[in-house]
Amino acid sequence: MNITANWSYPTAIKLGRGRIKELADACKTLGLKNPLLVTDRGLAAMAITGHALDILDEAGLGRAIFADVDPNPNEKNLEAGIKAFKDGGHDGVVAFGGGSGLDLGKLIAFMAGQTRPVWDFEDIGDWWTRADASKIAPIVAVPTTAGTGSEVGRAGVLTNSATHVKKIIFHPKLLPGVVICDPELTVGMPKAITAGTGMDAFAHCLEAYSSPFYHPMSGGIALEGMRLVKEFLPLAFRDGQDLEARTNMMSAAAMGAVAFQKGLGAIHSLSHPIGAVYNTHHGMTNAVVMPAVLRFNRPAIEEKIARASAYLGISGGFDGFYNYVLSLRSELGVPDNLTAMGIKPDRIDELAAMAIEDPSCGGNPVPMTLENTRALLLDCF
Ligand SMILES: [Fe+2]
Repeated sequence: MNITANWSYPTAIKLGRGRIKELADACKTLGLKNPLLVTDRGLAAMAITGHALDILDEAGLGRAIFADVDPNPNEKNLEAGIKAFKDGGHDGVVAFGGGSGLDLGKLIAFMAGQTRPVWDFEDIGDWWTRADASKIAPIVAVPTTAGTGSEVGRAGVLTNSATHVKKIIFHPKLLPGVVICDPELTVGMPKAITAGTGMDAFAHCLEAYSSPFYHPMSGGIALEGMRLVKEFLPLAFRDGQDLEARTNMMSAAAMGAVAFQKGLGAIHSLSHPIGAVYNTHHGMTNAVVMPAVLRFNRPAIEEKIARASAYLGISGGFDGFYNYVLSLRSELGVPDNLTAMGIKPDRIDELAAMAIEDPSCGGNPVPMTLENTRALLLDCF
């Protein structure tokens, strides 16, 4: 089945095969005449990026690119990107890539016109109102993976290069004005990245669904997102050329990020410090800690997960769901635990302290303390 769709929720989304050809139109819709394409170093050398630049160039929009972006973008990448944006006289950003290219692209568009330091816009209370919203440049987002969902998010993650702590920078206008979800851009992903990014999307849906906050709209989106992952992630993993599966995974990724406005939880609050300290893949780390977190949260989510199981066609309530997660992980080649991921439990105290400082911690169904988080971490080894 060839799926094509135009959605306007939560922003304008153009989903379907080959729709990257609408990139120049998307820029023009937002009034851009001289966009800067932002991506990471790895993608910069790939044919899909060259093709996107050709499309811009042929439409008279130039072919400017900034790709000095680390896997975990930091404030130095941001500074360099803002300089490239200003030096080139750019009027907007095409954020192109996985999480790093998308987040840094969005943050360059946000910060190029601000006078305060980026850390003043961390996602705390109403700090975002400190920004001059009229100076935020328009953003077109083009995801090349199916996991982060940053293309439909109102935040960007930035790592402090001195402390290695990841901060969430938030502003409503970080939401891209147009998103192009073209599954053909994702067919080149290596199997491990398909698995890791897909499990990130699943973790977003699972944690949003499980978080205790009242947000039934997000709850419904999270549930259907899990169903799409269950049906299509194994297919995309087995056959990377399966465009129907790739399309549905792009939908699931966007749905996960829409849903997690409801909250995230311990999977992400553990995964963030582990990734920061050991440089592990974010989605893969989520998948590794997922079973231990499910056991940890069981007293608070048993009934809720049983309801989800019924919808997902899994028998056996919570236990059935738990066993399903284990079998999905082994099908995708996810390491059994942190030890199998090559990590030693010698920095547990430090990781536990970072985990309970992580902003996702507040959305966990079981309140996290230093003590129970330390025990949960030990359980992940
Ligand atoms: Fe995530």
